[in-house]
Amino acid sequence: MNIIMKYKTSFVALLALAGLTGCWERPPIESVQTGYRGTAMVELNNPRLMAAQQAANVAPQPAPPAEAGGPLASAVFKNVQVLGNLSVAEFTRTMASLTSWVAPTEGCAYCHKPGEGLEADTLYTKVVARKMLQMTQAINVENKAHVGSTGVTCYTCHRGQHVPANTWVNAAASTKSAKFLGVESGQNRPSTAVSITSLPYDPFKTYLSGSADIKVASNTALPAGNKKDVPNAERTFGLMMHMSDSLGVNCTYCHNSQAFDKWSVSTPQRVTAWHGIRMARDINNSYLDPLNSVFPANRKGPTGDVAKVNCQTCHQGATKPLLGAQMAKNYPAMYSPAPATPLPVVAQAATPKK
Ligand code: HEC
Ligand code: HEC
Ligand code: HEC
Ligand code: HEC
Repeated sequence: MNIIMKYKTSFVALLALAGLTGCWERPPIESVQTGYRGTAMVELNNPRLMAAQQAANVAPQPAPPAEAGGPLASAVFKNVQVLGNLSVAEFTRTMASLTSWVAPTEGCAYCHKPGEGLEADTLYTKVVARKMLQMTQAINVENKAHVGSTGVTCYTCHRGQHVPANTWVNAAASTKSAKFLGVESGQNRPSTAVSITSLPYDPFKTYLSGSADIKVASNTALPAGNKKDVPNAERTFGLMMHMSDSLGVNCTYCHNSQAFDKWSVSTPQRVTAWHGIRMARDINNSYLDPLNSVFPANRKGPTGDVAKVNCQTCHQGATKPLLGAQMAKNYPAMYSPAPATPLPVVAQAATPKK
């Protein structure tokens, strides 16, 4: 009896601890099979939390279509370097929409200095926005293997704010004395970037701006020739935690846990994710890094680099950003070369999370 009581007490204590640390979810939990039977490939969804997640990922309605025809922007405006092949009407519609996606409270003045001509490049925000236009076009045109026909607009990342909610910068160097608490080695500092674990808190620099191999499984039985070490495995795990969190899924959405490295037993989503990693590297290296001299110091990280994208910047907890709403289709400016006649406005099909 005593023993039972003792266990009961510790069980209650454990329950309380679980509640306190937030690692328990209030039921109901639904499970959805994602792989063959017996492979334990299953997603656990909580309909209550999913409803909140869906409400937070609704795309805004597209602006009414611009009138067809009329002169090209390049023939009328003085300083258009990216959107010259749009009609003036479509160009104006684009300016109004990107204002609502990026600077709804500040308005046109966020990028165009009042009192100056609209052609002036005085504000850094306009220079950044021009690069963002090129970046968005590159995402939609060159990265179809990842973004498919869903594509992205400024809203995918910005969601009505001039600074996207989810970005990363290089982590500051550790200030801890190596002698006192041991070497921190870029980890053991619980971080939300890696799901509040003490895994390496900056897997992004290595894998999403650097292009280090994301591999840990060794192919030989004995250590001979195996170049994969423990820090490497920990960093990979950190990145995988970030990827799972960003999409709101667990590891088996992409992997069969009997062999994490084997593509033959992985899901098609893992292939999409592979392309996503390459796309993120390209966005960070070709579009954001080159803006380093344009951004003011208060927008940069502790080591002086610009904020960059990871999976969470677009996905924000959903397997497809904005639940797969096809928003970009309604905006020729989001594709390049933009078609001369604007694409028809299509209804937004929302694909609920699987
Ligand atoms: C987030 C930044 C941003 C906001 C907000 C913005 N613009 Fe622009 N605007 C730009 C960029 C970038 C260009 C240059 C595009 C290019 O090079 O193809 C531009 C160019 C223009 C031009 C062409 C000027 C010329 O002669 O070269 C006009 C007109 C214009 N914007 C109007 C507006 C209006 C009206 C609003 C408010 C409804 C607005 N813009 C809001 C970024 C912005
Ligand atoms: C893939 C994600 C992504 C997309 C798509 C995107 N941006 Fe950005 N944007 C960023 C990141 C990351 C930053 C840097 C944020 C920071 O400084 O903290 C940024 C910064 C900006 C800034 C500077 C804001 C400031 O106050 O310093 C402007 C302006 C901007 N973006 C405009 C746009 C426009 C216009 C579009 C669409 C043509 C667009 N962005 C599309 C990720 C994105
Ligand atoms: C959204 C899909 C996705 C999710 C979720 C995901 N992974 Fe991965 N994982 C990948 C991709 C893609 C690669 C290969 C990356 C590359 O080669 O660039 C990979 C690589 C790995 C590797 C290295 C395999 C090798 O070749 O040595 C391990 C280990 C791994 N993942 C474990 C995990 C764990 C553990 C989780 C859950 C915490 C997880 N993954 C969640 C997509 C995913
Ligand atoms: C620039 C925005 C953007 C970034 C950054 C991004 N994604 Fe995506 N991702 C998308 C879009 C858009 C789709 C929808 C594609 C479609 O509908 O075919 C998508 C789809 C996916 C899918 C397929 C989901 C499904 O159920 O079919 C996976 C897996 C995925 N992304 C993983 C990742 C990972 C992992 C990263 C980070 C390495 C990442 N994404 C970064 C925009 C992005």
